[in-house]
Amino acid sequence: MACLLTPMIKTNRTEGGPTQPNNTLVKKLYIKTYGCQMNVYDSERMAEVLSPLGFVATDTPADADMVILNTCHIRERAAEKVYSELGRLNKVRDKKIQNGDGGSILAVTGCVAQAEGEQILSRAPYVDMAFGPQTYHRLPQMIAEAARKDGQVLDTEFPIESKFDLLNVPRALNGASAFLTVQEGCDKFCTYCVVPYTRGAENSRPKADVMAEAAQLANCGAKEITLVGQNVNAYHGIDENGDACTLASLIKSVAEIDTVERIRYITSYPAEVDDDLIGAHRDIDKLMPYLHLPVQSGSDKILKAMNRRHSGAEYRRVAEKILATRPDMALSSDFIVGFPGETERDFEDTCDLVRDIGFVQSYSFVFSPRPGTPAALMENQIDEQVKSERLARLQKLLGQNTLSFNEKSIGKTMEVLLERKGKKPGQLVGRSPYMQAVVVQADDKLMNQIVSVKINNGYGNSLFGELSTNKNNERFCA
Ligand code: SAH
Ligand code: SF4
Ligand code: F3S
Repeated sequence: MACLLTPMIKTNRTEGGPTQPNNTLVKKLYIKTYGCQMNVYDSERMAEVLSPLGFVATDTPADADMVILNTCHIRERAAEKVYSELGRLNKVRDKKIQNGDGGSILAVTGCVAQAEGEQILSRAPYVDMAFGPQTYHRLPQMIAEAARKDGQVLDTEFPIESKFDLLNVPRALNGASAFLTVQEGCDKFCTYCVVPYTRGAENSRPKADVMAEAAQLANCGAKEITLVGQNVNAYHGIDENGDACTLASLIKSVAEIDTVERIRYITSYPAEVDDDLIGAHRDIDKLMPYLHLPVQSGSDKILKAMNRRHSGAEYRRVAEKILATRPDMALSSDFIVGFPGETERDFEDTCDLVRDIGFVQSYSFVFSPRPGTPAALMENQIDEQVKSERLARLQKLLGQNTLSFNEKSIGKTMEVLLERKGKKPGQLVGRSPYMQAVVVQADDKLMNQIVSVKINNGYGNSLFGELSTNKNNERFCA
């Protein structure tokens, strides 16, 4: 609120002109991010938008002049967390004021803000701003407005113009791995899912914009670029000739950037995996041999009730085709158990699919009824205890798959992009081509480098290995 903003935002008011925050002061920005890779991307972009106003990142909210909570609405528990987190952050701010360190702006964005921004502002009246994922390019104006009008700012519009066209700030990057949003929104309307409502209709960025951003990221040191979209394989941005560019063709162009060594994409929709994309995995060395392809359920009856546009058999066919084209590919997936009407037989169909395909990594959830989605209103809701019991069974099976894949990695030599320090001194942790966490003793100088690692041990969550001196090892797995 303005009383809290006043000590820290100075405004330069020009006669008749807009009010702008003074951009000569250094201010600290704390962003906490929940949810998917797109939220991670958005948080990075918000920091970039605020950088010209003098904001620099801090990882302690107690220091921050601005706190942004970037939220996720996908499941009930995720959304409920927002209010407890806001309460906590408000207390941190009160303490900061009591200590004479000035106030801070408390802002909420992401999918919860998009879905219920107005309720947030009334349920948590100490929140200064709520804005959706499509308007953060306007952050400088929102900050000025909050300072000026002594009240809360709400901006949950879906503007006609795309934020990407208005984000006139260069990319900055910490590390060697970057997310790049190429497509946003979803028109699939799975009956359980809030994303079509919180992110809006599917929209692909023009290829030239994506390539310009990829080049910027490469210049900042990105060795790995992950192309992000809610349905990234539905990407159809216009190319230089005004034609629709496919994801496969976009990947091919990104692969032409010399210093980019690894390309990934997430998340794909099974019914839209085409032959070009499968072929790209065969033809483009830099494209990692790993595909996250959510199936949700193995039961055709449930898939239909979910409004997924694929059957279990169709999913299996896609998986088979991928593995026939590139046998060292690995698949990961998402699952929902306890969807309305799910019988023990339906659940067993899901387990059968898991046994047959052998996903190497998985994310599984109990069905969470979300306000405004058709599945929340379905009559045959499943008892919470049955849901939890099925989730435990499925997770056991999925965990066995992951463990067995990790154990099979023992003795192999893999290329690992080292990206953070490990728990023990001298350890660095990176990711294999298959997204496995790999722990290795390595000099800090190797941080953000791709190194060859011989795997000595494989557990449920990580691999342990040693730097390999064999320069002739095969590209991924020996
Ligand atoms: N666009 C991606 C997924 C986005 S949401 C896709 O189509 O696959 C990420 C995952 O959250 C989903 O794959 C699904 O498994 C899970 N999820 C989404 N809505 C959910 C709900 N209402 N209850 C439980 N899990 C849900
Ligand atoms: Fe949600 Fe389905 Fe769209 Fe994925 S495809 S974002 S699960 S509606
Ligand atoms: Fe969550 Fe929104 Fe992503 S609901 S999963 S943050 S698109």
